[in-house]
Amino acid sequence: MKDDYFVPSFGNKPRNLVGRENIMSKFEECLNSVPGSRDRALVMLGQRGAGKTVLLLELAQMATEKGFVVALPTVVSKEMPVRVVEKLISSSENVLKNKKSKISGGSINMFGFGAGIQMKDDNDEKKSFSQKLNEICKEINKNGHPVLILIDELQANNEELKQLIIAYQEMVGEGIDVALVMAGLPGAVSSVLNEHVLTFINRSTKIELEPLRQNDIEIYYTKAFNELGINIDNGTIKNAARQTEGSPYMMQLIGHYITILSDDSGVIDKDNISKALTMAEDDYQNDICKTTLAALSEKDILFLKAMSKDGEESEVNDIAERIGASNQYVQIYKKRLIQSGIINQPARGKVRIVIPYLKEYLAKGEEYIY
Ligand SMILES: Nc1ncnc2c1ncn2[C@@H]1O[C@H](COP(=O)(O)OP(=O)(O)O)[C@@H](O)[C@H]1O
Ligand SMILES: [Mg+2]
Repeated sequence: MKDDYFVPSFGNKPRNLVGRENIMSKFEECLNSVPGSRDRALVMLGQRGAGKTVLLLELAQMATEKGFVVALPTVVSKEMPVRVVEKLISSSENVLKNKKSKISGGSINMFGFGAGIQMKDDNDEKKSFSQKLNEICKEINKNGHPVLILIDELQANNEELKQLIIAYQEMVGEGIDVALVMAGLPGAVSSVLNEHVLTFINRSTKIELEPLRQNDIEIYYTKAFNELGINIDNGTIKNAARQTEGSPYMMQLIGHYITILSDDSGVIDKDNISKALTMAEDDYQNDICKTTLAALSEKDILFLKAMSKDGEESEVNDIAERIGASNQYVQIYKKRLIQSGIINQPARGKVRIVIPYLKEYLAKGEEYIY
């Protein structure tokens, strides 16, 4: 069967948002709070495929409906400052055009923020990013709209991120009506962060993306397969939901493979169900587990590999012995992996891998060190 229901890829808005009600209400609090309050700056943390980008897009929609001018999610990079300004301009043009505001376009262009935002004017060329951002936000406020800036894929120790945070703090100091929401991997917020950035992030409201609830996934699958006309019993749905381990990306993958392995009359047999689950697991390991490991040091991988020999939990002492490292070093690797949200510590001296299917992937012993 053709699948135009599930979206197993990144940054793709799903047909229905599953769960995340508490986060959506946090977003609402952020937008409703007064400029400068703590809730006006949010940092959302979650593993790959946890739904960070999707939530930023949902927030963008909510904010737009509330009259905010939104700079759509911008990935942290060298171009980030320019891109943020460009996106604010294009959103403000849309909002103001719809409103037929007296200031539409013209006045904004006066600042050199107009189409293309290349800052052609000599004066604009000399303006710092912070000045440009400040002026355009003020201009948007003057037209009766608050501003929301969305940043995706936070990176540790990034100069542009530091600039943006400083600019935000200056705007808050001047009473400009602006909010800032940023998303990234748990490891992006670690001690290696630039001190200024770290202090800011520590003070802002943090949101951690938990796994989705089994029950919510079951309800989603029931509705989805029903709409698609796929005949599938409750037991199979329950099992499929369990296999997602609460990962939104895995949920999309499993749904997708069950759909395409169903025949045109909506029938799928047991063999094809298990084939769908295996295909989803392979994709998940390739897209999430492999990518996660590629970002780690060799020592961290060694630590995880030593864990893959155990059941649910491992003893830190056993790992030290297996990798032949001193207790002191093992503590360093452990801390780093906990900060990255890859393992947790269920009890003193014990650790557990929290990324679904990573343990199985490590146990396969495939070539994953680049
Ligand atoms: N709450 C959710 N409900 C349904 N699907 C979701 C949800 N969150 C994410 N997804 C899906 O999971 C996949 C990964 O989401 P994405 O936002 O790109 O993750 P991240 O940015 O954290 O890596 C996408 O296919 C997306 O549609
Ligand atoms: Mg993303």
